[in-house]
Amino acid sequence: MIINNPQLQILEKGFLDIDVPPTLDLFEAINELKKQKKMIVLAHYYQEPDIQDVADYIGDSLGLAQKAAETDAEIIVFAGVHFMAETAKILNPNTKVLLPDLKAGCSLADSAPADLFKAFKAKHPDHLVVSYINCSAEIKALSDIICTSGNAEAIINSIPTNQPILFAPDKNLGAYLNKKTGREMLLWNGACMVHEIFSLQKLIQLKVRHPEAKFIAHPECEDAVLNIADFIGSTTQLLKYSSQSNASTFIVGTETGILHKMQQLSPNKTFIPAPPTNSCACNDCPHMKLNTLEKIYVCMQYEQPELTMDENLRLAALQPIKRMMEISKKAGLIG
Ligand code: 13P
Ligand code: SF4
Repeated sequence: MIINNPQLQILEKGFLDIDVPPTLDLFEAINELKKQKKMIVLAHYYQEPDIQDVADYIGDSLGLAQKAAETDAEIIVFAGVHFMAETAKILNPNTKVLLPDLKAGCSLADSAPADLFKAFKAKHPDHLVVSYINCSAEIKALSDIICTSGNAEAIINSIPTNQPILFAPDKNLGAYLNKKTGREMLLWNGACMVHEIFSLQKLIQLKVRHPEAKFIAHPECEDAVLNIADFIGSTTQLLKYSSQSNASTFIVGTETGILHKMQQLSPNKTFIPAPPTNSCACNDCPHMKLNTLEKIYVCMQYEQPELTMDENLRLAALQPIKRMMEISKKAGLIG
């Protein structure tokens, strides 16, 4: 098929808008492409179930970064969001990184524009900058160490207690870490739209109706929500907890995509998504959900859209990620 000006289409839409025949078995077609090309499909737990089922590896942000760094595939197809694909490119520059929809962004990453953050950082020259991986490559380049929800506590605890820290961009994760580690980190005022949507009142009502249920939550949730959680952790840690716990019912305080793997690992357990504040909004991340099986197939076939990065920016962003990887390795943390 000939596409008229594919680069312009990608620029405008974020993806190649090519009709895929509805009769095509996408699972088979994707697996066939994987055999033909040296490709690996990496997917975050927040992707739709079909995408998780065709992925070669599913993980949280830490696991995905580790997998992207170590793969010898020639092409990484990243079923996730922009900052994740950027991290893969930073760690593995000689591999072609494809993102099925370049407009798959992140509200949390967007809450820290690089120019404003640079000015904020300049006001606190004595602070070490620790940034959550959910940020742009520009913010990473302005940071001293990166962390993920899976290793944040270990990263903070690796820093001498007398060293002031500026933590960005997630104020909820930052506040949680302050509580856990006893630090008083200065927090950038950013948040994730999905993890701020949970209704405390409805959650309490749900817990009353299901007294046997364990409420498990991601540390990007607000403090009041985390206060009533039985377990707090990254997506991988929540998954592990739900599969190993003796409880039979779980109220899940994170994006709904994770329920697919939870249910697969524990078919006899019940998983209830934590209730959002209003009846029409759901706990789906609109950015993560921009990826579809069709877009993944087209992207694998045409090897576009490709994520590219300025080499100086890549090198600057690499240093704080490398520090994170080293600390994680020492602590034996795998996502
Ligand atoms: P983790 O993958 O570290 O659990 O973070 C969740 C998230 O919000 C990713 O966008
Ligand atoms: Fe960003 Fe939140 Fe979506 Fe994760 S769930 S990609 S933090 S908006």
